[in-house]
Amino acid sequence: MRMWGGRFEGVSDVRMAEFTRSIDFDHALAVDDIAGSIAHVHGLGRAELLAPEEVETLVRGLEGLRAEVEAGKLTWDPALEDIHMNLEVALRERVGPVAGRLHTGRSRNDQVATDMRLWLRRTLDDLDGAIVEMERALVGLALRDGEAILPGMTHIQPAQPVLFAHHLLAYVEMLERDRGRMADCRRRANVCPLGSGALAGAGYPLDREGTAAELGFDGVTANSLDGVSDRDFVVEALAAFALCMVHLSRLAEEITWWSNPRFGFVRAADSFTTGSSMMPNKKNPDPAELVRGKSARVIGALTGMLALLKGLPLAYQKDMQDDKPPLFDAAATLEASLLVMAGMVATLSVDRGRMRAAAGEGFTTATAVADALVRRGVAFRAAHHIVGALVAEAERGKVALDALEDATICAALGASDDSVAASLAVDATMPAYLRTAAGLEGAMAGCDVIGGTAPRRVAAALATARARLGV
Ligand code: ARG
Repeated sequence: MRMWGGRFEGVSDVRMAEFTRSIDFDHALAVDDIAGSIAHVHGLGRAELLAPEEVETLVRGLEGLRAEVEAGKLTWDPALEDIHMNLEVALRERVGPVAGRLHTGRSRNDQVATDMRLWLRRTLDDLDGAIVEMERALVGLALRDGEAILPGMTHIQPAQPVLFAHHLLAYVEMLERDRGRMADCRRRANVCPLGSGALAGAGYPLDREGTAAELGFDGVTANSLDGVSDRDFVVEALAAFALCMVHLSRLAEEITWWSNPRFGFVRAADSFTTGSSMMPNKKNPDPAELVRGKSARVIGALTGMLALLKGLPLAYQKDMQDDKPPLFDAAATLEASLLVMAGMVATLSVDRGRMRAAAGEGFTTATAVADALVRRGVAFRAAHHIVGALVAEAERGKVALDALEDATICAALGASDDSVAASLAVDATMPAYLRTAAGLEGAMAGCDVIGGTAPRRVAAALATARARLGV
């Protein structure tokens, strides 16, 4: 009982039927499909293509189906290809032949395009909540342990000390941009293709705008060919998901390293780690590793979707049915990753002592010492050279920069061809002045610009994030 079977003889080959059906995954669109159908029935009523009592019967039937879907009571028949056919047949079983009027002025092409936009809209709203949860976990950790000092790195080499809160807030910034990208995507996706028909536009005077408004769309698609074949919104969503996963993967990588005992900066909670079947000593940060790994899957979904659309002629092509598995999978992967990372971050314990010790290794305050010289009038390039020489001395003597002897400091100043530096070599206050600048707190306090790691700047950034997130 194929619904399109009028011109066909015989039965479908089982290989063809199994290969082409989509019900195995597009049942996820059930509630969206029903919402679209209800709005379409109302539109058919307004166009006087359905009598008021037909509208009422169909809408009541569709609402009943929605209740069955929500209760998990509706089962899907693989012989009916997809969610659209399954729901239409289920409706006919419940309301009788009037169900045959539902598909007036509609094609599965504009129907599925509408369903996908409705699905994406609610999924983006759920994901926004999950991103906020992740941001709250980061801010919570920043409030608890943000005063810890981390060795900021470039090239994975010790660079400059930064507040742990500053580092965590960098991820909050990334996630806020992710929210913005998803909001942009939602805005462009939120237009209604219903009324586009199969490709040329419906053959009836449908009030497209009224139907779109009923479904909460901001407007209607402007071109019927584009309306049925546009999947830009899927690509945009996948791009935003992939980038968000990439952000999470960077944090996941850092947590993995930080919890290695050689670093010992953090410890993941037992509830967010796993053991080894063989090595009794092991405690592995599995969720972080898997988030890192699963980012590959979401990147793959994006590239797969671009490849799917590349070179596709207008309008609907069956290839487009395969937009669903990667989109559904990527959204579920991102949501699960956000939630598990939020839990992991919220339960992380921080070893401030280990972090601080590491922050002081590698002469990370050298830049701050050079800046201190510049404040006394030395040219930056000369200051860089002088402090470079001091770092070499400290390395030779196996001492920290703030433990160098007066004589060593004065000799380095005196050897400079910068006249101001040379004159400072005889200033008795200079060694103590530069040693103070070489401390971790002094170094961070010097980075006192908007967006810098000076504690008062970080406190302001944290306050902004708290206000935005309501924590
Ligand atoms: N299952 C199809 C899809 O997801 C629905 C649209 C099918 N349209 C068609 N003319 N066969 O793309």
